[in-house]
Formats: sequence, structure tokens, C-alpha cells
Amino acid sequence: MNGSKVNDSLRDKVAIVTGAARGIGAAAVRSLGEAGASVVATDVLDDEGEALVRELCAEGANVRYAHLDVTDEQQWLQVVDRTVRELGRLDVLVNNAGIGSMADVESETVETWDRTISINQEGVWLGMKVAIPRMREAGGGSVVNLSSIFGAVGGFGASVAYHATKGAVRLMTKNAAIRYATEGIRVNSVHPGFIDTPLVAELKGTPAENEIIQSTPMRRWGRPEEVGEVIAFLASDAASYMTGSEVYVDGGWTAR
Ligand SMILES: NC(=O)c1ccc[n+]([C@@H]2O[C@H](COP(=O)([O-])OP(=O)(O)OC[C@H]3O[C@@H](n4cnc5c(N)ncnc54)[C@H](O)[C@@H]3O)[C@@H](O)[C@H]2O)c1
Repeated sequence: MNGSKVNDSLRDKVAIVTGAARGIGAAAVRSLGEAGASVVATDVLDDEGEALVRELCAEGANVRYAHLDVTDEQQWLQVVDRTVRELGRLDVLVNNAGIGSMADVESETVETWDRTISINQEGVWLGMKVAIPRMREAGGGSVVNLSSIFGAVGGFGASVAYHATKGAVRLMTKNAAIRYATEGIRVNSVHPGFIDTPLVAELKGTPAENEIIQSTPMRRWGRPEEVGEVIAFLASDAASYMTGSEVYVDGGWTAR
């Protein structure tokens, strides 16, 4: 994408990415950083996050790390305040942090249900609540919320809490998109299919992996960078007329 509008428009933008220490979040940090954005990579895995930032800085990116548990409103306020204080503005928020869940309706517990909702759903709302006022100060912005193919379809009948949260992210995105459409703040959701990250490591080598590959029209796992590039596109001015959109990065899975 060298020389494209995607690259050019991100050059002077400031972004926060959650759950950025690894997987899709790390790929988003890399894509945004390579396009010239200043990026605050955040996570609860501080060692992995710091290591990523060291690697990207050595490659010339303007990236820094901050600890942020997305379920904690005070931490959100501190990280967003510090970002604006040190980098001057906030243009982009990538609400990527998330956890998986495997249980179906009857085997799910209140404890893991609440934890999944707290991270995957409430964390996304809190991020928008805290970041959007600062985007307004910057004259506009772009929020990219990570949903999933499982935010739109019922999948394999398991992971009930995960589906609940990802469906909620899809509609929170559309609701917020309408709310801020006249203020230059765009809000879109990205819906990955099966992407090869630590989140799905436990499926590797099991019959479930075979089912995943066979049910994916492209017959392979997606790579984190294939999602990171789409996130960077939505963050950029190249997507200036897109808001409330749901973008599938799934090797054709939901096309069936
Ligand atoms: N990998 C896939 O197949 C896939 C498919 C669809 C959607 N997604 C979504 O993409 C996003 C990224 O997933 P991934 O596959 O890269 O997962 P991952 O497990 O590799 O990375 C998720 C990151 O979120 C962080 N995190 C967890 N709880 C947190 C908290 N409370 N506060 C801050 N950070 C926290 C983790 O430490 C981790 O670094 C998630 O929202 C996930 O649901 C992934």
C-alpha cells in the first residue's frame, strides 16, 4: 500500500490499540506504524507489549507501550489523557482486546460469562466513551471495533458468551456510528474469520482445526496481518465515507 491514500492520511495521526501485545492487535500496531501513525500499543501483557514496541521502534516506527486493562475506566482515562498530553491529539481507537470462550448455553458459568462480557463488550463501550470526546477535540476520528464472524452468525452452537459479546459489538458500532456521523467520527466493525493467533492455539491439531479449514472457502487460516491491514484502511481517510459498516475478513466463511 506504499504511496496510497491509506499511508498518506495516517502519517500525522495518533492511534491507541488495545490488546496489542500479540495477534491481531500487534498486527494492527504494525500496519498503523508502518503507515506513519504514532501508536500507543496497550495490553495487560506488559512484557510482550514492551518487546513488540522495541522491535517496531528498531524498524523506525513511532510506537510506545502503555498498560491498559480495558475493563478499568480509570486506566482508560489515564491512558487517553497521557496520549493526548504526550502526542497532542487522538484520532484513532482500535478496540481489539478480547478473550475467547468455548462453553455452550448449558455449560457456561456466571463467572466466565461475566468476564467475557466485561472484556469483550463493556471494554469496547468504555473505550468509545473515554476516547470519543478527545477525537471530537481533534476535529474527528475513526473507531475500529473488533467483532467476529461469530458476531453475525451462530457458528458451531458453542461459545455462547463470545457470540453474545461479538453480536453486541456489531450493534454498538452501528449505534455509535449514527450518533457521531455528523461530527466526523466514524465507527466501523471488523469481523475476522479464523485467524492464526494465540487465541485459537488450543484448536491446533484437533478435529476442530480440520472442521475450520474445511468450512473456510479459502481452505486456510487467516494471518494476523491480513486483518491488521484492513484495520489500518478503516482508520485512514481512504475510508472517509464508511461508518457503521461491518467488514468481513474471513476467507469467504460468511459467504456460504
Ligand atoms: N483469532 C481469531 O480467529 C479471531 C476471530 C474473530 C475475532 N477475533 C477477535 O480479534 C481480537 C484479537 O484476537 P486475537 O486472535 O489476536 O487474540 P489474542 O489472544 O492473540 O490477543 C488478544 C489480546 O487481548 C489481550 N487482553 C485480554 N484481556 C484483556 C484486558 N482485560 N485488557 C486488555 N487487553 C486484554 C490479551 O492479553 C491479548 O494480548 C479479539 O477481540 C478477538 O475476539 C479473533
